[in-house]
Amino acid sequence: MQWWRDAVVYQVYVRSFTDSDGDGIGDLTGVRARLGYLELLGVDALWLTPFYTSPMADHGYDVADPRAVDPVFGDLEAFDALVTDAHAHGLKVTIDLVGNHTSADHEWFRAARDSAPGSPERARYHFRPGRDDGPPNNWQSVFGGPAWTAMPDGDWYLHLFSPEQPDLNWTNPEVWADLEKTVRFWLDRGVDGFRIDVAHGMSKPDGLPDAVPGEPDPRFDHEGVHDVHRMLRALVDHTAGRMVAGQLCVPDERFARYLRPDELHVGLTHRLLDVPFSAEAVRAAIEDAFAAVAGTRSPPSWTLSNHDVPRPVTRYGGGPVGLARARAMALVLLGLPGTVYLYNGEELGLPDVDLPAEVRQDPTGHRDGCRVPIPWEGGPPGFGFTTGEPWLPIPDEWADRLVADQLEDTTSTLSVYRRALELRSSHPGFTGDEVEWFGAPEGCFAFRRAGSTLVCALNASAEPVPLPPGDVLLTSSPLHGGLLPPDAAAWLA
Ligand code: GLC
Repeated sequence: MQWWRDAVVYQVYVRSFTDSDGDGIGDLTGVRARLGYLELLGVDALWLTPFYTSPMADHGYDVADPRAVDPVFGDLEAFDALVTDAHAHGLKVTIDLVGNHTSADHEWFRAARDSAPGSPERARYHFRPGRDDGPPNNWQSVFGGPAWTAMPDGDWYLHLFSPEQPDLNWTNPEVWADLEKTVRFWLDRGVDGFRIDVAHGMSKPDGLPDAVPGEPDPRFDHEGVHDVHRMLRALVDHTAGRMVAGQLCVPDERFARYLRPDELHVGLTHRLLDVPFSAEAVRAAIEDAFAAVAGTRSPPSWTLSNHDVPRPVTRYGGGPVGLARARAMALVLLGLPGTVYLYNGEELGLPDVDLPAEVRQDPTGHRDGCRVPIPWEGGPPGFGFTTGEPWLPIPDEWADRLVADQLEDTTSTLSVYRRALELRSSHPGFTGDEVEWFGAPEGCFAFRRAGSTLVCALNASAEPVPLPPGDVLLTSSPLHGGLLPPDAAAWLA
């Protein structure tokens, strides 16, 4: 029943996936309409980014009501229909859970704003008097600038992200009770699991001490957060087959603490998002990922992209080289044991889009480029994503990345992903929890799934190289005279 252990989870950035009503913004009914595609692609589960009531200061990660669907994305009926149909297509559904903060529009925060310093309404958040005419401590927001905003009455409130995302006070029992209510609410509607946003956040140290250079970051990874994870785990474990994965930005040596038997099932990391296309660096990152989960019951997890970082095609240099490298890395990831998270559009080889400042909407200003809607078919402006104007413009050049065309073309990036996913779920070589590395030319690596004959080889050097022995199952680019070209990977058995 531990389906997540080797699952491929597909992240749907709902806003950018498919729009069913012509307002230019993706929605739940749009996702439902594409379930056939996702089944064909061959993924096991979905992760839906927040679709809850929100003023969209951070596109849904600012939640005003965690137990309601924002009208932009649909309604509860649309959600229920999506879950029912996803299950009929053999797909699990996991959803985002934002526990670190609410929207400033949440009824709790509105009440806090309208109440006096020291009131119970303010005690659900972190309100403090200022210090020397400035904020209460020296903490910075992840999005830049001080993590505090002043109220007219002299109190300041804490927000580790945008000012529209006030941090909840996890020493307040009401905050616990409310998250529990939210989790039960969605479990009752049939979800198969959660992705915990900022899973290393939530709890804060007593007294909110200043950050000191060279010492652990007091904003995150505080001991109290583990009690939150124990609460969540107990709730999901109530029904077999439900899982909880958490976004973790903590040092490797702190990672396993979140994966104790009564905490998260899966820890998500940024590891491969920060690593250049180099055999040495990628291998080291993979080994570190295995080491970080050693001694836990959790599988390692792998991800090449998400809604917060530039897409791999762009990170690896852009153009045909960036694309070839991204395809090669897809085979590396999908060749590994563990849970793989794909981000919508990755399977199409989409690059980041360099959007003009006037159309960008992200509060950090940096993340719109990876959030441009999916080009399904047809042409501008909607590309089958919408019958209206897409919320971010889809570039004309994406006419050569259409899903409709890539489905027909056996050499397309989409076809490589489909074939890889098919092999991953059907070929007997994809067994075991470990990999063994063996000798490879400089700038290359090769690993075998332990206890199996399946081999994955990566060529990140500038020269074509001979393949390890075995029958070729799949390559990310065509072989050159029997050799693996630069910027390519192969699976053999
Ligand atoms: C996580 C999300 C990111 C969001 C932030 C605040 O890092 O992945 O998109 O902006 O949390 O909720």
